[in-house]
Amino acid sequence: MLEGRVAIVSGAGRGIGRGIAKLMAAKGAKVVVNDLGGSFVGEGKDKSPAEEVVAEIKADGGQAVPNFDSVSAFEGTTKMVNQALKEFGRLDIIVNTAGILRDKMLHKMDPNDWKAIMDVHLGGHYNLSRAAINLFREQDYGRIINFSSTSGITGNIGQTNYGAAKLGIVGFTRNLAMECARKNITVNAIAPFAYTRMVASIPINDPETEAVMEAMKLLKPEYIAPMVVYLASEDAKGVNGQIFGVRGAEVMIFSVMRPLRSVHHGGGWTPEEVRDSAIKALAPHFSRLMRTEDEFPYDPLV
Ligand SMILES: NC(=O)c1ccc[n+]([C@@H]2O[C@H](COP(=O)([O-])OP(=O)(O)OC[C@H]3O[C@@H](n4cnc5c(N)ncnc54)[C@H](O)[C@@H]3O)[C@@H](O)[C@H]2O)c1
Repeated sequence: MLEGRVAIVSGAGRGIGRGIAKLMAAKGAKVVVNDLGGSFVGEGKDKSPAEEVVAEIKADGGQAVPNFDSVSAFEGTTKMVNQALKEFGRLDIIVNTAGILRDKMLHKMDPNDWKAIMDVHLGGHYNLSRAAINLFREQDYGRIINFSSTSGITGNIGQTNYGAAKLGIVGFTRNLAMECARKNITVNAIAPFAYTRMVASIPINDPETEAVMEAMKLLKPEYIAPMVVYLASEDAKGVNGQIFGVRGAEVMIFSVMRPLRSVHHGGGWTPEEVRDSAIKALAPHFSRLMRTEDEFPYDPLV
C-alpha cells in the first residue's frame, strides 16, 4: 500500500509509533524513525529506541533511518524533513505520534508540567506539520496522521494539560484538513487505546482500576498501525478531517461536537429564566462526566 512512499513517524522508538513505523516499512515505505528517547514524562534522551526499530526494519528487509531530534523544537522537525529528502529523495507522509505525560490535578500542576505537554503535543504537531506542509503543497500530495486522545474528547482526571492539548489536536486536524483539501493532502487524527509505558504509568489505587489495567494489557500497540497505514495510503484519498478511534480489534469514528439542542428567547434570557426554562430543555442532552466515583466501572466512549 505504501510502495515508493517516504514517511516520518515521530515517537517511533516505542509503543504505538514503533508499530506504525514497522508496518509502514513492511508495506513498502521508507521510514525516518524519529524518537528522542526520553522518559514518559519527557526527561532525558536515548538513541537506542529509534536505533533498535531501524535495525528491526532492516532485518525484515525494509528501509529506515533513525532520527533523535525533539518534535518540540521547529529546528528539530526541519532537520527530520531534510533528512528524509537527503536519504530517500522525497516525503509523502508524516505521523505525529510522539508524546509524553505529566499527570497532576490542576491544583498541584506546575507551569513546567503545563508547558512541557503543550510543547510536545500541540507544539510537536505544529512543528512537524509546518516543516512539511510547503513540500506537500508543491508536490500536490501529502498524508498527515495526528494523535488525539479520549482524555481530551471526553475528559479524564489529572490531565487538564494533556486533555487540553489532545482536544487542541482535534481542532488543529479539522482546520488543517480544510486548508489542505484542494491540494490532495489529507489530515486525520486517531484517538488510540493501547497498553504502552504511558498507560502503565497510571497509578493503581483501587481494584476497579486494576481490573481496567488488566483488560488494557490485551490492547497491543501494534493494533493501531493498520488504520494509520490505510490513512497514509493513496487509497484514503477521500478521507479528510476525520477523528478515528482504535481499541484493539475495534475501529471507530468519533462525532465532531455540534449543538445538540438550542432554545431561543426573544429579547434574551435573565439568569432566572435560564434556571427555570432553558436549562430544562438542554439538560436531557448533558454529557456524562466519566471516572467520577459513583460511575465506575466506566466506558469512556459512552
Ligand atoms: N497508549 C494509549 O492508550 C494512548 C491513548 C491516547 C493517546 N495516546 C497517544 O498516542 C501517542 C503514542 O503514545 P504511546 O502510548 O505509544 O506512548 P510511548 O511512551 O510508548 O511512546 C511515545 C514515544 O514518543 C517519544 N517522544 C516523547 N517526546 C518526544 C519528543 N519531544 N520528540 C520525539 N519523540 C518523543 C518517546 O521517547 C516514546 O518513545 C501519544 O501521542 C499519546 O499521547 C496513547
